[in-house]
Amino acid sequence: MGDANFGFSDDAILITGAGSGIGRATALRAVGMGLRVSGWDLNPTGLAETAELVTAAGGTFHSWVADVSDDEAVTAGVASATEALGSIRYLHNNAGPASSAPIPFDQALLISVGSVRRVTDAWAAAGPGDGAAMVATASVAGNKVGTNSDWYSASKAAIMGYVRHLTAYRSHEFRSNAVAPGMTDTPRLTGFAESEVGQRVMERIPLNRMATPDDIAYATLFLLSPVASYINGVFLPVDGGWTVTQ
Ligand SMILES: NC(=O)c1ccc[n+]([C@@H]2O[C@H](COP(=O)([O-])OP(=O)(O)OC[C@H]3O[C@@H](n4cnc5c(N)ncnc54)[C@H](O)[C@@H]3O)[C@@H](O)[C@H]2O)c1
Repeated sequence: MGDANFGFSDDAILITGAGSGIGRATALRAVGMGLRVSGWDLNPTGLAETAELVTAAGGTFHSWVADVSDDEAVTAGVASATEALGSIRYLHNNAGPASSAPIPFDQALLISVGSVRRVTDAWAAAGPGDGAAMVATASVAGNKVGTNSDWYSASKAAIMGYVRHLTAYRSHEFRSNAVAPGMTDTPRLTGFAESEVGQRVMERIPLNRMATPDDIAYATLFLLSPVASYINGVFLPVDGGWTVTQ
């Protein structure tokens, strides 16, 4: 199956957390739709692998190794991406720690939701232009179901609150939406589907499987794209129907 290109033309996208999972899939699908990609990650090895995959697919890739919670690195990254690729019309705010990471609550919020605000502000200040759009990777966690990790639920719900703020007050600059994955088969959930808990969760997912990273990438790119130009401020669960059965 060839990819539709959702009306994208020759533009650039910045993707955080592009060194693995959902961010990598978004990078690969984005180049398939004709976009140039600036991929950011704190893991240089993962990011180099994504760069290799994108380049092998004939795409243009700008790499930026950075922690998205670092102000200076974020500002410098937007400048570097703009110099390499021109104006960056689209932003996928996707990087975030795994819910299992033992991070103190305050610090975790600073990293996860604080970085979404930081990257959005730096990107918007660079002038993404007409038709600009941002999608954040929220989660069904916090917004639909509670998780064991206090900061994970809180920060994903806060990301959605921030998206609502952007929609209400900054739509003259860009559209804002959030994609909300359910259980997604990325390295952080390796082995989950086969585990006892995983099996129980799978039974409650009407489509009876985890999402693939591509499932989330396509939803993200759709929301960013020109064909979604009247969709603004939505929370889009991509969860196989899981939360309907909660
Ligand atoms: N996998 C799931 O089931 C699931 C479900 C709902 C939401 N999500 C969200 O999707 C997003 C992507 O997760 P994934 O499943 O693809 O995980 P992943 O671990 O495969 O990829 C995440 C990438 O983000 C990078 N990263 C993490 N913190 C960063 C930081 N501070 N600065 C820069 N890069 C950073 C990591 O190095 C990694 O390469 C996350 O926000 C996650 O919370 C995932």
